[in-house]
Amino acid sequence: MDGFSSCGKSTIAKGLAKELGYTYIDSGAMYRAVALYAIRKGWLTDSLMDETAITEHLSQIKISFKPNLSGVQETFLNNENVEREIRTLEVANGASRVSTLPAVRTEMVHQQQEMGLKKGVVMDGRDIGTVVFPDAEMKLFLTSSPEIRAKRRYDEMVSKGESPKYEDVLANVKERDLRDTTREISPLKQADDAIVLDNSETGIDEQLQWALKMFNKITGNNEQN
Ligand code: DC
Repeated sequence: MDGFSSCGKSTIAKGLAKELGYTYIDSGAMYRAVALYAIRKGWLTDSLMDETAITEHLSQIKISFKPNLSGVQETFLNNENVEREIRTLEVANGASRVSTLPAVRTEMVHQQQEMGLKKGVVMDGRDIGTVVFPDAEMKLFLTSSPEIRAKRRYDEMVSKGESPKYEDVLANVKERDLRDTTREISPLKQADDAIVLDNSETGIDEQLQWALKMFNKITGNNEQN
């Protein structure tokens, strides 16, 4: 599943995984963990990105996922639970920047492909249908307007006790869209064989039911072939 930031990919992906008994993997969390590592080391600031340091230390960045007591996957960076820390705007922005680095992408794609070797995985991100799993059984591409995505992200942050400005969140969404779609390596792009869902007007339940129906149709078709 690919799509723009904050367009509800993870909600649909998690819902699908639950219904199908599959494992949900948040590939964006992996880029966020790399960004967090680099921010803590001082290699990634507003005005600097030390590509050499980040690239040379990639082997020291171990990212894993473990389900919490409610069964929700949480992100671990070198065995430290960083699930909350990677969700800030600063880290989101940093993730969008480190994800432009060739060595970072190569390493993340490699790890993601390993996680999918046994199948039974719903993974969301930007290049999953185009680069990570070009042969996936089903490819979904989710989209909605920047304003609607910024409003969702804003509401989510407020519900977590943060007090962002809507204008900042919208600017961040647009900035990331631009970087994600124009970067040289694996830019966010709809795979030729992806099914598109514009969820600007659709509720979560409706989207999930639709995605499940598509999955059953596609895998049913595969069985007939
Ligand atoms: O989905 P997200 O907002 O958590 O992703 C954070 C950043 O990571 C996003 O700006 C783009 C990048 N990313 C990527 O380049 N490729 C992926 N498969 C997933 C995320």
